[in-house]
Amino acid sequence: MDSLLQEIKEKINNIKTLKELNDLKVEYLSKKGPVNELSSKMKDLSVEEKKEYGMKLNAFKLEVNSLFDSLKEQLENEVLNEKLKNETIDITLPSKKVKRGSKHPMSRMVEEFEDLFVSMGYTVYDGPEIESDENCFQKLNLPVGHPARDAQDTFYLENEYENYLLRSQTSTAQVRAMEEHTEKGPIRIVCPGKVYRRDEDATHSHQFMQIEGLVIDENISMADLKGTLELFCKKILGEKTEVRFRPSYFPFTEPSVEVDVSCFKCGGKGCNLCKQTGWIEVLGAGMVHPNVLEMSGYDSKKYQGFAFGTGIDRFAMFKYGIPDIRTIYGNDIRFLKQFDRKDVE
Ligand code: DAH
Repeated sequence: MDSLLQEIKEKINNIKTLKELNDLKVEYLSKKGPVNELSSKMKDLSVEEKKEYGMKLNAFKLEVNSLFDSLKEQLENEVLNEKLKNETIDITLPSKKVKRGSKHPMSRMVEEFEDLFVSMGYTVYDGPEIESDENCFQKLNLPVGHPARDAQDTFYLENEYENYLLRSQTSTAQVRAMEEHTEKGPIRIVCPGKVYRRDEDATHSHQFMQIEGLVIDENISMADLKGTLELFCKKILGEKTEVRFRPSYFPFTEPSVEVDVSCFKCGGKGCNLCKQTGWIEVLGAGMVHPNVLEMSGYDSKKYQGFAFGTGIDRFAMFKYGIPDIRTIYGNDIRFLKQFDRKDVE
């Protein structure tokens, strides 16, 4: 037993792999191996000798098994460690850059307008782009054949839908909001959205964006309109902006005004953007015409209101220095990428 143990120890010391260990185990511990041979010697011994021999044999077997087991564990650990080492992920490597989209300049402008008006207690109203002639024109005091319709030639639907068109102005929201208000009480809304016209050049697109505002209440005056629009222009274009009101004409307002702002490029001195006038026209507005109120069920003796409308594209062109309106709708990624900057936010 002692010499066998010595032999096993020596062999085990040279073992490098689990396979070698397994082969050695088969060699020594299988049925026909030397360890078993020692056990089979029991049968030739007397009872007394069996006792002593048996104890020794047990201790011997325990030791041999523990030699095999501990080396097995050690070799298995080595294999695992090697595997872990080879499969290590270097988390310090720079990752692949994830491409991030950016907000379209129109979405930015719309959000800016909405935030401003919501902060003043307005709600955002959404109207359809396919509209009836009635809502787009007639109920805004532009009856069939009215010459002011010429400036808003748009796209008409055919056959049984011939009374429908692509809205040429968000002013249609005025009619919808008033008609939907069952109690005919106060209203304070802004309606941003797409509008359409038969236009196409560097500053006009067949599709563009407007935002409409409507306030209706008792005792609303021109002063409310003026204060609101002055604040609006300064908040969007900068506190230094000067605001000027000029008398104008719109069929749905009386009196009507056009609003100019001091040119933000030259500060009012005169440049190519403001065509040397120092002013840039940005808004149409006025006090809601009594006919418009009455046509949508409002008592014009009790209620007054003001309305305004402006092109969101124009504001974006000024604010971001976009020279051609068509690039806004061209969907060219190189154009959109220019707005993927923190300083635009
Ligand atoms: N809807 C007009 C346009 O598209 C703009 C406008 C002018 C809207 C006066 C208004 C307003 O609400 O009062 O040219």
